[in-house]
Amino acid sequence: MSDLKGSLYRKALGRPVDLAGPLAVSWTELLAFLWHRGGLARLRGIWRGWRLGDCGGRLLVGARVRLMFPRHIHVGRNVAIGSDGYVNGFSTDGVRLGNNVRIREGAWIQATSTLDRPGVGLTIGEGTYIGPRVILGAGGGIRIGARATFGAAVHVLAENHAFNDVARPIQSQGVTRAGIVIEDDVWVGNGVIILDGVTIGRGAVIGAGSVVTRDVPADAVAVGNPARVIRQRSGEPIA
Ligand SMILES: CC(C)(COP(=O)(O)OP(=O)(O)OC[C@H]1O[C@@H](n2cnc3c(N)ncnc32)[C@H](O)[C@@H]1OP(=O)(O)O)[C@@H](O)C(=O)NCCC(=O)NCCS
Repeated sequence: MSDLKGSLYRKALGRPVDLAGPLAVSWTELLAFLWHRGGLARLRGIWRGWRLGDCGGRLLVGARVRLMFPRHIHVGRNVAIGSDGYVNGFSTDGVRLGNNVRIREGAWIQATSTLDRPGVGLTIGEGTYIGPRVILGAGGGIRIGARATFGAAVHVLAENHAFNDVARPIQSQGVTRAGIVIEDDVWVGNGVIILDGVTIGRGAVIGAGSVVTRDVPADAVAVGNPARVIRQRSGEPIA
């Protein structure tokens, strides 16, 4: 019986998952989970998916999700967008979510604030997990690799207001955009802020609450404001 629970659970997740043991939930709890995760969200996904630029199949969409300029949003297979998310696809390259990307509740994703100046857009690689209440401002372009893990309330800000002219309001000076790259297998802790122009190397770890203002090398652990590398994951001294 517990195997049946496990296989139903696996089916609802729609991706390979190693279970540590039998599921510690009652049948009622499991059925409620399956309805929430695979039933209602799946129905919303079917309804919303056909309007997207591409949909690879099995899209899960939470309650009250707003998908603006859906033609510019391209999703792979088994993508989930949690309740209360806002995804605005308007951009030169669009918003592209790979297979098995999960974006939790309350996301705010946008590349462009005014339609006369489209931003670059967002790409997220296969299997990446984005925690709740993420802000992805993708004006200069954000590229997130495969199997990255974002905690809650991470802000990735690929745009700055120009402000050098003190005689004019900042709002009339336009923006600067460089772009942000976060490579495969990076773990970004809760509440991290990543500023424009930064590249975070493959496998790096960013401590909770850090503000990343400069590039972080592959497999490094960086913490603080501004984030500084404290060690390599392997324990090697900093190069
Ligand atoms: C960075 C982290 C992974 C720990 O890495 P670690 O290499 O084991 O670091 P340590 O705990 O040995 O701490 C090393 C130093 O960094 C400091 N440090 C650790 N995490 C820090 C953080 N987030 N911000 C600032 N400083 C931090 C420690 O105080 C310590 O400083 P000291 O040497 O002056 O005493 C962990 O602290 C962290 O931030 N985890 C994120 C948790 C999270 O967001 N979870 C959500 C789940 S997705």
